[in-house]
Amino acid sequence: MKFFIDTADLEEIREAHDMGVLDGVTTNPSLMKKASQRAGRRLDFHQHIFDICELVDGDVSAEVTGVTYAAIMEEAKALAAIHSNVVVKVPLILDGIKAINSLSKLGIKVNCTLCFSPTQALIAAKAGATYISPFLGRVDDMSADGMQLLQEVVTIYANYGLETQILAASIRHPVHVVKSALMGAHVATMPLGVIKKLLLHPLTDRGLKQFLTDWDQYKQTPR
Ligand code: G3P
Repeated sequence: MKFFIDTADLEEIREAHDMGVLDGVTTNPSLMKKASQRAGRRLDFHQHIFDICELVDGDVSAEVTGVTYAAIMEEAKALAAIHSNVVVKVPLILDGIKAINSLSKLGIKVNCTLCFSPTQALIAAKAGATYISPFLGRVDDMSADGMQLLQEVVTIYANYGLETQILAASIRHPVHVVKSALMGAHVATMPLGVIKKLLLHPLTDRGLKQFLTDWDQYKQTPR
């Protein structure tokens, strides 16, 4: 399973990258706003995406904000020209699906975002999306089951050998990651906090403490 970090914050990306387990990055307009607020100034979108791409050797999703076919195509081409790592994020709307079809024919990689149903995922794959992003946490927020959505997408894609990669998004906690991995999602994109939680276990901490205590006592034992 590939691990992507879901942030536009360069410091967070650097921290995850330093762990040596980072395969890519996903950003969106809200995350650009957050990173700009943290920086105390409006970050230049294209420059910022370039900076992320220079840092991480993997797919970096950058989202369009146009909602018409023409606007999406224009923005997508400009974003794809920033760096070979860029994957253009396109919303799952009618004009977005049309654009995904055209972009895939141009060889531009697309992450189809804001997926909340299996039929949306099926259409995105048929249109040629490189990635589909089911939003697990936001489905859960509606008192529905994000993991059931993911399972349905996994099954439908497997039934027809669809090549679109399943990118589990809107991940809120490690159980989302475990269940996504068990279902065979290709990618999990998650905030830095969730990446860090993946390696936590109190028995590891307790065991290490005991080992170090015993090691000290071992060293104090006369030869
Ligand atoms: O990048 C899209 C997705 O992961 C957003 O997550 O937490 O805003 O629902 P969230």
